[in-house]
Amino acid sequence: MLTQKLAVVTGAGRGLGYSVATQLAVAGCKVLIVGRDAEAIGEAARQLQQSGLDVLAHVADVTDASAVAALAARVRREFGRCDVLVNNAGVFLEKHDPALPKAASVLAVEPELVAEIHACNALAPLRLIQVLVPLMRENGWGRVVNVSSGMGQLADMGGLWPGYRMSKAALNALTRLTAKELEADPTKVNSVCPGWCRTRMGGEGAPRSAEEGARGIVWAALLPDDGPTGGFFRDGQPIDW
Ligand SMILES: NC(=O)c1ccc[n+]([C@@H]2O[C@H](COP(=O)([O-])OP(=O)(O)OC[C@H]3O[C@@H](n4cnc5c(N)ncnc54)[C@H](OP(=O)(O)O)[C@@H]3O)[C@@H](O)[C@H]2O)c1
Repeated sequence: MLTQKLAVVTGAGRGLGYSVATQLAVAGCKVLIVGRDAEAIGEAARQLQQSGLDVLAHVADVTDASAVAALAARVRREFGRCDVLVNNAGVFLEKHDPALPKAASVLAVEPELVAEIHACNALAPLRLIQVLVPLMRENGWGRVVNVSSGMGQLADMGGLWPGYRMSKAALNALTRLTAKELEADPTKVNSVCPGWCRTRMGGEGAPRSAEEGARGIVWAALLPDDGPTGGFFRDGQPIDW
């Protein structure tokens, strides 16, 4: 039976997920990196293994219920534990171009597109929590990090990009719900905004590197036993919902 902490990081073939996986492995975890593109996630795992890190790849589209069930079955069979779940996989499918605001307007967006964004950004984390939190509870320790965004903050809700914003607000609600239900449990559940980072999603103009953004996520993934639960954080500091 594995005694090392086992961390599952979704969407870890590149960007923030890749940096989170790297930092968790450097901190001593065995990390199962999950991605839907077999070649990309395999190559990411090879790169990390070549640096001497304990990382394995798993191919799964997190919006596919049977793929998520297969992931959980592998985690149970191969490792017998799950200590950390980082729900990082995310999509931003609405047009980014502020010069074309209608493309991303709440008055014009296709509801089907909003549903597609929700499937990945909010419902997949729900499914992953449902299959992996029971393993955390069996071992009496767990950390769930939902990688959210300031764009989902009700306290600072701008216009435009309704699918993405609604999905991250829903993800934050999932954090609160799960933390409440696990109140009497050692497993902690938090939302983290990484800040605006230079990734394929964030673009080249973002002020932070993926490594910087990943630090706040890893902080929440390795919280000590007296750490917070049910909160929303950026760089380890609480922010408004
Ligand atoms: N970058 C920012 O400024 C920023 C700010 C706030 C929050 N965030 C959040 O941070 C997280 C990571 O974003 P990022 O900036 O690193 O974006 P990214 O570079 O686009 O990476 C997203 C990752 O998620 C994967 N993914 C997407 N849909 C998936 C699915 N259905 N199943 C499995 N994997 C899937 C992607 O794989 P594919 O190659 O297969 O698409 C990719 O590896 C997201 O949740 C995002 O909303 C980012």
